[in-house]
Amino acid sequence: MAVKPVLAVLGVLLFPSSDVLAQQATSADTPDMPADVEEWMRTAWGMEPQVLGVTDTHFLSSLNASERQGAFLFKQRCNTCHYSTMSTTRGARAGLVSEASYGPPLSKRNVEGEDRERAARLLISEGSATMPAFKYALGPEQIDSIIGYLKRVETLRPPVVDRLVDIESPNVVEAVPFGQTAQTLWGTITSTSGKTLEGVTVSARSLGRNVTTSVFTDSDGEYYFPPLEAGRPYKVWAQAQAFEAGRADVALSQAGARQDFTLAPEADFHNQLTGSQWYAALPDGTREDRRMKEVFRAACMGCHPQNFTLISRFDEAGWRNIITVMSRMHPYRYGTPAAAANREPNPIMLYFEDELAAWLAKMRGPGPSPMAFTPRRPTGDSTLMIAREYDTPEPGFGLPFFNDGSTDWALGPVDFMDESKHHAMNATVDHDGNVWMADMFNITRTVVKYDWRTGQATNFVVSEMPGGPPANSHDIIVDDDGVVWFDMSSTGALGRIDPRTGTSNTIRPPEGSRVGPWIGDDGLGGIWAAGAANDVKAMRYDTRTREWTLFENPIPNASNYGMTGDGDGNGWWSTANPRDGLMKADLESGQAAFVPVPEAVNDRADLFTAEELAIFGTRLTFYGYGRPGAVAIRKPGADPRGTALWGCSWYGGGMVKLDTRSHVATMYPFPPEHEDGNCYETSVDKDGMVWLPFTHGDAIAKFDPDTEQWTSYFLPTIGTKTHGLQAVTVNGRTEIGMGYLGAGKVAKLQFRTKEELQRLKAETRRP
Ligand code: HEC
Ligand code: HEC
Repeated sequence: MAVKPVLAVLGVLLFPSSDVLAQQATSADTPDMPADVEEWMRTAWGMEPQVLGVTDTHFLSSLNASERQGAFLFKQRCNTCHYSTMSTTRGARAGLVSEASYGPPLSKRNVEGEDRERAARLLISEGSATMPAFKYALGPEQIDSIIGYLKRVETLRPPVVDRLVDIESPNVVEAVPFGQTAQTLWGTITSTSGKTLEGVTVSARSLGRNVTTSVFTDSDGEYYFPPLEAGRPYKVWAQAQAFEAGRADVALSQAGARQDFTLAPEADFHNQLTGSQWYAALPDGTREDRRMKEVFRAACMGCHPQNFTLISRFDEAGWRNIITVMSRMHPYRYGTPAAAANREPNPIMLYFEDELAAWLAKMRGPGPSPMAFTPRRPTGDSTLMIAREYDTPEPGFGLPFFNDGSTDWALGPVDFMDESKHHAMNATVDHDGNVWMADMFNITRTVVKYDWRTGQATNFVVSEMPGGPPANSHDIIVDDDGVVWFDMSSTGALGRIDPRTGTSNTIRPPEGSRVGPWIGDDGLGGIWAAGAANDVKAMRYDTRTREWTLFENPIPNASNYGMTGDGDGNGWWSTANPRDGLMKADLESGQAAFVPVPEAVNDRADLFTAEELAIFGTRLTFYGYGRPGAVAIRKPGADPRGTALWGCSWYGGGMVKLDTRSHVATMYPFPPEHEDGNCYETSVDKDGMVWLPFTHGDAIAKFDPDTEQWTSYFLPTIGTKTHGLQAVTVNGRTEIGMGYLGAGKVAKLQFRTKEELQRLKAETRRP
C-alpha cells in the first residue's frame, strides 16, 4: 500500500450519536477568521480550513480574553474530572461524549440561571465529598473566567467531528511560499536594576506561520536570531525565571531589527518553573520528608510533571479526592466510572494514601509551604542553542499562542488530557533539516512532515485498506542514508519514506509477527523493530538483503522498552520486570540474552520496610509505579559507529554506559538539575556525543564521553513532557529532532559555536 500525502477518506469512522447531549447548531458557513489565524490553520494542519467547516479553532477564537483564560484554566484544573468540549476527534469517536469522566461533563447547562451559577461557584470554592475545594488554588477572578467560559460551551462535542468524518475528497494544500530572509533580529536584555541578563529565552513568531524560533542571551545580555523571514509582523517575547516576561511587536524588514527588553523581577515565580525544579523544591531534611518525596516520585511522576501535579493547593480532604481519582486513572483519561472501577487501583497509592494526603497538604495546602524554589538561567555553552518549535494539532484543533503548549511560563504547564496534543511522542529531522513526526493518536494521518522554515504540515496517510483509516505510528527515525522509518504499530508493519523522492513502502514482517512501537537502526544497514503480541520481541530488517531475523524474549513475559542497534549489527532493548537491565539480540547466533546493569546511584530503599518495598515491587511499569533503587532504562541508544551503548534511567538511577562486546558497564550520575531522572531516550551523534531528553525538566542534555561533562539545554516551552529525540547529521552538523508529548509540538534544535556567534555579533554591530 502506497503512502500518499493526502487526507484519507474517513467515511468509515462513524461514532455513535448521543441524544444525551445538546448538539451545537452547525452552520454550513464558516465564520470569519482573522487572516493570520486562517493562514496558521493552513500551515499547521496541512489542510484548507474551509474543508472542515466550523472547527474547535473557530470556537476558541470566538472567546474573549477572559473566557479564553477560563478555557485554559478549565483544561489545566478541571478537565481531569470533567469534560467540557471533547477535545479530539478520537475522543469523540471513542464515545467520550457520554459520561466518561469521574465527575459530570460540564457545559452552559450547569451554570445557567442565578441559582445554578451560585451553586456552581460554591462547589468550586468549597468542594464536596468527592470534589476538592479550589478556594486555596483559584482567586475570584479565575473562577469568574471559568464560569464565563462554561457559559459559552453549547456542546460536548466539537462541530469539526461531523465534518471530518464526512470528508470524501483528498485535500492537499499548496506549498506555502517562504519570503526573503532578513538581517538579524537582535537586542540587549537588562533587568530594571540595569544589569544585563545572560540566559534569557527570547522567542519570535511571525503571524500566520507555524514556527516559533528561540535563542538565548549571551554573557553580555545580547541575543541574535538566525536569519528570519523578512517583511512579516512578528511577536517577540523574552522570558527568564523570576522575571516578568517582556513582549513586543516587531515589523521585520530586510535590514533586520533591534529590540531591547527591560525585565522586572517577579517575586511570585514558581509557576514559571519546570517539573524537575518543583521536585527539587520539595524538602528532604527529615527522614519522613525523604520517604514521602520518594513515594511521590514513584507514584506520581509517571504520567505528568510535578509542576502540573502541584500547581493547585488543596486541603487534606482535597488531596485525598485527587489520590482516589489518580489511583484508578488511565495514563491519559479516567474513562467511564464503570471501566475505572474495573481497573486495579495503584497499590502504592492505596498503601500510602493517608500519609501522602497529609504530606501533600503540608507541601501544597492552605498553610505556609516548606517548598523552596530556586530559579535558574542557562549560562555559557547552554545559551548557544537555536530552538524551532512547531505546533502539531490534529486538523481542526488548536489556536496559535493558545492551547498548544505554554509559551507563557507564568500560566504554568498546559493540561495534557486534551488528546489533540498527544501526537508528538517522537520526531526527528531528515537530511534537509525538515521535521518528521510519528502521529500516535489520530484519524487523519500516519506521519507528518513539517517544513523547517514555514512549519507547514504535509500529512502522510498509510492505510491497510484503500480508503481505510490511517495507521497510527509511535516511533520514527532517519537512517544514515536519510530515509525515514517508522512503525505502524496499529497494523503491525514497518513504514519507510524517502523524503527526497517521495517513494514509500510498507514492509510486513514474517507471518505471525507484528512490528511493535519502537524502532532503531544499526551500523550494518539493519532496521530494528520491537515485536508485539507474541514471543517475537525483536526483529531486524536487513535493508540490503530485505530479509528479516526474529528474536524471542529471553525471559518469558519480561517487559520490553525501546529498540536500538549497535555497530556490529546486534539489537538492544531495555527491560525492567522481573529483572532490571538490558536485552541483547546477537545477530550471529540468532539468540537474545539478558545483560545486567549496575545498581542505581541513588538507592533510597533504606527509607522503607521490607513490607513496603514489596508494595513498590508488585509492578514496575511505565505509569506511576516505581521502585526505590530501580534503574528502568527507557529507550537505549547505541553508537552505530562503535561499541558503546547508552541507557538512561526513568527512575532517576543515572546513565549506564555498556560496552556492547565485553558487557562492562559504568553508571554515571545525572547532573543535579536532572536528579529526578525521568530520562527517556539516548541518541548518539556523529561525534559520539550522547543526547538525552529529560521529560519533566523541559530540557535535553549532552554528555561528552571523553571529558564526562554534561551540558544542559533548556527548552523554550514548559510542560513539554518531552520523550523521544534523535541526533541527526544535517549538512555536516548535529541537529536534534524531538517531540513534546505534553505540549503538542515538535522541535528542531541547532547549536551554534561561540565563534559563529561572535562573527554574527561583529557583523551586526558594525555601523
Ligand atoms: C478530582 C475530581 C474533580 C476535579 C479536579 C474537579 N471536580 Fe467538579 N466535581 C467533581 C465531582 C465528583 C462532581 C459531582 C459530585 C458533586 O457535585 O459533588 C463535581 C461537580 C461539579 C459541578 C456541579 C455539576 C452539576 O451541575 O451537578 C461543577 C459546576 C463543578 N464540579 C465544577 C468544577 C470546576 C470548575 C473544576 C475546576 C476548577 C472542578 N469542578 C474540578 C469532581 C471534580
Ligand atoms: C496513570 C497516570 C497517572 C498517575 C500515576 C497520576 N496521575 Fe494525576 N493525572 C493523570 C491524568 C491523565 C490527569 C488529567 C490531566 C489533564 O487534565 O490534562 C491527572 C491530573 C492530576 C491533577 C490535576 C487535578 C486538577 O485540578 O484537575 C493532580 C493534582 C494530580 N493528577 C495529582 C496526582 C498525584 C498526587 C499523583 C500520585 C499520587 C498522580 N496524580 C498520579 C494521570 C495520572
